[in-house]
Amino acid sequence: MENNKRPESMVRITTKALADSFIQEQVAALKKQVGNKKVLLALSGGVDSSVVAALLIKAIGKQLVCVHVNHGLLRKGEPEQVVEVFRNQMKANLVYVDAVERFLGKLEGVSDPEKKRKIIGAEFIRVFEEEARKQDGIEFLAQGTIYPDIVESKGVKAHHNVGGLPDDLKFELVEPLRFLYKDEVRVVGTALGLPDSMVHRQPFPGPGLGVRCLGAITRDRLEAVRESDAILREEFAKHGLEGKVWQYFTAVPDFKSVGVKDGARTFAYPVIIRAVNTVDAMTATIEEIPYELLKHITSRITKEVKGVNRVLYDLTPKPSGTIEWE
Ligand code: XMP
Repeated sequence: MENNKRPESMVRITTKALADSFIQEQVAALKKQVGNKKVLLALSGGVDSSVVAALLIKAIGKQLVCVHVNHGLLRKGEPEQVVEVFRNQMKANLVYVDAVERFLGKLEGVSDPEKKRKIIGAEFIRVFEEEARKQDGIEFLAQGTIYPDIVESKGVKAHHNVGGLPDDLKFELVEPLRFLYKDEVRVVGTALGLPDSMVHRQPFPGPGLGVRCLGAITRDRLEAVRESDAILREEFAKHGLEGKVWQYFTAVPDFKSVGVKDGARTFAYPVIIRAVNTVDAMTATIEEIPYELLKHITSRITKEVKGVNRVLYDLTPKPSGTIEWE
């Protein structure tokens, strides 16, 4: 239990100088813990796993094996960014697994949100397990566990409720961020040279766009979610809302309605825009997006995203809504 408590003497990491000294200490500790052995890491490209990866690359270089599983439910540009930052720039030992068809196949026809989550989580573990078995000499498993995970979820990353690797693949854990709060992780990530777009990204659920493509996932609606989300993010960035609004995204329901385009009748999907602010994600208020911007985003989405003829703006706070639609 003692081991799970942030040491009282630990100063809050708020500056580059403090981050640099944390990094120095951790690099020494990681070298000592790992020696000349190999470490495996599931690198999603989210803040926590990216910072763990960067720290381990600094400490042990190619002894770290990063596995990036593209499950087809990532945002536009994310898998490419992981490859660019970690393989091309940081020269990491990165295994990129294209598991898109496999995940979409498993999810075909499944509309229940909990079942979808379970399938995505379980399949993720299976893909990761297969990659782990292909690697020789792995003795450690690195994880992006941060302090709130320990305090709130007994050391398990939030929402990862699908069990872990089988017993014969139980590696010794490496969790260098376990006493850090999220804001500290970001300061450390920046000090390690990670791009802002990776370090300051908004929260993104593990099951990814799978929770925003409502009902049974189909390729056309999944692309509609991905493309509309990219437009929303681009417009928020252009209008200074990135970093100001806590979380914003689009969702696509599984029904169509009648519309009209170029004088002809359409029968297509709506896109829902959600933008919320919160402190702890337990309650949330909506962001009042300026009307002109909403109209501009609506026009872009209906023009640029295939199979979409309407855009809706969700005005519901949490409660009574949740942040995600799923
Ligand atoms: P809800 O929809 O429950 O979401 O109001 C609260 C916050 O949690 C995020 N969320 C997740 N985060 N894995 C995560 O790491 C997940 O499976 C997951 N599901 C929801 C959600 O985006 C929101 O920020």
